[in-house]
Amino acid sequence: MRTVLGVAGGIAAYKAAHIIRRLRELDHSVKVVPTANALNFVGAPTFEALSGQTVTTDVFDEIDTVNHVRIGQDAELVIIAPATANLIAKIAAGIADDLLTATVLTTTAEVVVAPAMHTEMWQNPATVANIATLRARGVHVLEPAVGRLTGPDSGPGRLPEPEDVVAYALSVADAAGSADAAPGTGHAGQSLDGRRIVISAGGTREALDPVRFLGNRSSGKQGIALARAARAAGAEVELVAANIDSGLLTDLPAGTTVTPVESTLELQTAMRASQPDADALIMAAAVADYRPEETTESKMKKTGDDGLTLRLVQNPDILRGLVDDRIGTQLIIGFAAETGDAQTTALDYARAKFERKGVDLLVFNDVSDDRAFGHDHTAVQIIGSAAGEITVGEEFQGSKDDVSQKVIATLAEQLTHLESTP
Ligand code: CTP
Repeated sequence: MRTVLGVAGGIAAYKAAHIIRRLRELDHSVKVVPTANALNFVGAPTFEALSGQTVTTDVFDEIDTVNHVRIGQDAELVIIAPATANLIAKIAAGIADDLLTATVLTTTAEVVVAPAMHTEMWQNPATVANIATLRARGVHVLEPAVGRLTGPDSGPGRLPEPEDVVAYALSVADAAGSADAAPGTGHAGQSLDGRRIVISAGGTREALDPVRFLGNRSSGKQGIALARAARAAGAEVELVAANIDSGLLTDLPAGTTVTPVESTLELQTAMRASQPDADALIMAAAVADYRPEETTESKMKKTGDDGLTLRLVQNPDILRGLVDDRIGTQLIIGFAAETGDAQTTALDYARAKFERKGVDLLVFNDVSDDRAFGHDHTAVQIIGSAAGEITVGEEFQGSKDDVSQKVIATLAEQLTHLESTP
């Protein structure tokens, strides 16, 4: 796909280098059009080397090829990342005083804008009005992420991670029917614009007393990656976060609602409360199967040298309950990390779990021989069903972000399929 990458003059301009690389990996031709200020942050040779195309900012350069209209006319997709408040204001006003703004004014391709600026600028009524103007004209604006900004301040205004910008842009292009993303990239699929996705993540903790709990090591990174992928595809996202480190939550894109919970029963209450309005529910949390029968109100004391016996009671199966009370064509997705043994393979255990839980999709992770735990790269197979038969997808390997994009793309396809099936 012929993609134009506009880069405005902000500190996040360096992330444009990763965006170019990602687009090139996906076989896009990338014409980089920076503003003059962007070149104060990243030099033209970097953009030229990564994109393999010449880079200029001025409408009077390469005048024989009528660059200021040709680039926009040729483009099949225009991405501006980062877009500063100033650039957004110029586009909203229809100003064309450099090559990038002229390109935006001449293109008929889908335009994706990824703003990045200080929180005050993002929330200023002028910027709010300009963003509303762009959206009303059909420009696709990716919500900035919340997190550390250039100085010591933090808040909404960060450029989302390059892979999130690319995933969002490609979902826009797909939705516009102009996608030629390679199959298997994990990006192909419908947009989730207007959909509401509820994702549980992290690990539940069961209190023994005011200071102690039974818990597990789940960090919540997979759930956060899913939230980012779903948001990037245009969905409204609620993350039900079981004991996730607040530092990790800053990786969430702006506009993600976070509902913090601790125990399995709290997680169940939150998921059930959000179920009625959800188009899809994803249980990525590691849920404690048991909880102490009693929680003491004051700190437990040693009673002697004989050790301690805890009595545990079974927690509810949250996923099963969501499936039993499924609403309409609501899609319900579970995760399963399995190991095999002498009699049964990990995949066979996963198939059995798929049937037992009654989910639409089960994301199966073979953790035999420590194949996945603690590693950045992971390998999953998505189990589903078609015409009454269980289907097992090809093994898909990648980072937690890649896997999440694959899961969200599959979810989007299934939602569309379910709704079009009488
Ligand atoms: N899950 C749940 N409620 C529970 C336990 C698990 O909703 N009480 C969800 C998990 O979030 C996950 C899926 O069910 O999406 C599978 O989790 P897993 O722990 O593998 O399921 P269990 O039913 O506990 O299976 P096992 O008997 O193998 O422990």
